[in-house]
Amino acid sequence: MGREEYVVTGVNWKGSGYMPSGLRSVAVVGLGFIGLPLALSYAMEGVQVVGVDVDESVLGRINRGETHLQESYNGTPIDEILARETASGRFRTTCDYAEAAAHTDTYLVTVGIPVNGGEVDMSPLDRSVESLGRVLKPGDLAIFRSTLVPGTTRERILPALERLSGLRCGSDFHLAYSSERIAEGRAFQEFREMPLAVGGIDVASTERAREVLSVVTTAEITPSDIETVETSKILENLQRDINIAIAQEFAALSDALQIDTYELIRVANTHRRVDLLKPGPGVGGYCLPYALHYLTPKMRQLGLDLPLALLARDINQGTPLRIVDRLETLLGEQGRTLDSARIALLGLAMKDYSSDDRESPALEIGAEIVRRGGRLRAFDPVIPDGRPFTCDSLEEALEESHAMILAARQACFDEVDWASALECMADRPVIMDTRRMLDCVTLRPDARVWRI
Ligand SMILES: NC(=O)c1ccc[n+]([C@@H]2O[C@H](COP(=O)([O-])OP(=O)(O)OC[C@H]3O[C@@H](n4cnc5c(N)ncnc54)[C@H](O)[C@@H]3O)[C@@H](O)[C@H]2O)c1
Repeated sequence: MGREEYVVTGVNWKGSGYMPSGLRSVAVVGLGFIGLPLALSYAMEGVQVVGVDVDESVLGRINRGETHLQESYNGTPIDEILARETASGRFRTTCDYAEAAAHTDTYLVTVGIPVNGGEVDMSPLDRSVESLGRVLKPGDLAIFRSTLVPGTTRERILPALERLSGLRCGSDFHLAYSSERIAEGRAFQEFREMPLAVGGIDVASTERAREVLSVVTTAEITPSDIETVETSKILENLQRDINIAIAQEFAALSDALQIDTYELIRVANTHRRVDLLKPGPGVGGYCLPYALHYLTPKMRQLGLDLPLALLARDINQGTPLRIVDRLETLLGEQGRTLDSARIALLGLAMKDYSSDDRESPALEIGAEIVRRGGRLRAFDPVIPDGRPFTCDSLEEALEESHAMILAARQACFDEVDWASALECMADRPVIMDTRRMLDCVTLRPDARVWRI
């Protein structure tokens, strides 16, 4: 069994130790932020895992033992886990669904639904369902873990799988949906500890899916019907989007009142029934910004409106622009204009300590600065560069800059001696800390410091 190998600083990999009698192998379809650590989590439990992805560059990177994910388990980085599980023979990859099908009867699908211009793009999921349908065998189980537009499993996936396989769902193969709830950066831990919900197309599908999920998950698994589990996932994300919008609005209020936002939240949260979230430079990633868009097709179909969720989305989407508005005001107070200023933007990830820059508010801030004529140099050590405004080091970004915006924390930023690092900025600089990273740093007396 793999988990005995995960003895790190005296802490054992505490696998659930649960192995349904039939589960020898599993195919994890889609090897991205969710799929790769999920696949490795099964391998760590001793399951033979074949990871399926259609992107040759993703497969190439994984086969070279590289990942760009900021994940670890008990101090063991994901690259090391990948190396161990590959060497053990428990984990391998393929781009060929037929090859996966030859080795397993259980599929966990993590292929996502992108959103382009507010419209959902079902094509990656459709293609994956098509490929799966062509290789599905009697006795197989497919569990979809992607975040789906409510109704997708029963109305879209089921008929496609039946049509392509010539098999009957329920009698010939099993189908279930279980949303994925982990937060990037805590994947290995949360795959184990985050409670799940699961809905099957019938009782046998639900039960079999629950057993497969239990191999990694030690937390409670709540059975329900598929549509409830699909919709619950969207509402879980929507609720967080709305709560963050509330925090952003309160932050704007406390800024105007010249009250420290974090202190205000700390005090308010001493009330046992209040739980304010922390504000920031915006909301990024796939999950929260896309939640509302995943509901839009159903809302249109049913003639429904969700004004609160729409307003929250507007507030969150507008936050990066408001940060740039604030930057312009602060520069003005220092006698400068944005279009003549050099701006350092530090951290491009969609959240702290992440390598994910999808829908990143930091990138929105950067794009808006450029749009308004600012000279931008951005630095993030873990986000792949290739954008015209990125540079190779913190020093290069800060050198002679008139303003600095800290938009996402990264581990290496924690090691920086900020008081000295900021010395190379121009006179009377603006320092905007949207992540409250510099609270304990004595900053230069000539700086105009703004903390969210
Ligand atoms: N990232 C998160 O924190 C998170 C958290 C909870 C839920 N989710 C959900 O999980 C799902 C996956 O998210 P992700 O962040 O891992 O996405 P991702 O884009 O990182 O990974 C998806 C992978 O699927 C692959 N793929 C695309 N089409 C394919 C096909 N036809 N066959 C096989 N592979 C294919 C892509 O190449 C990619 O590697 C999404 O539905 C997302 O909403 C994500």
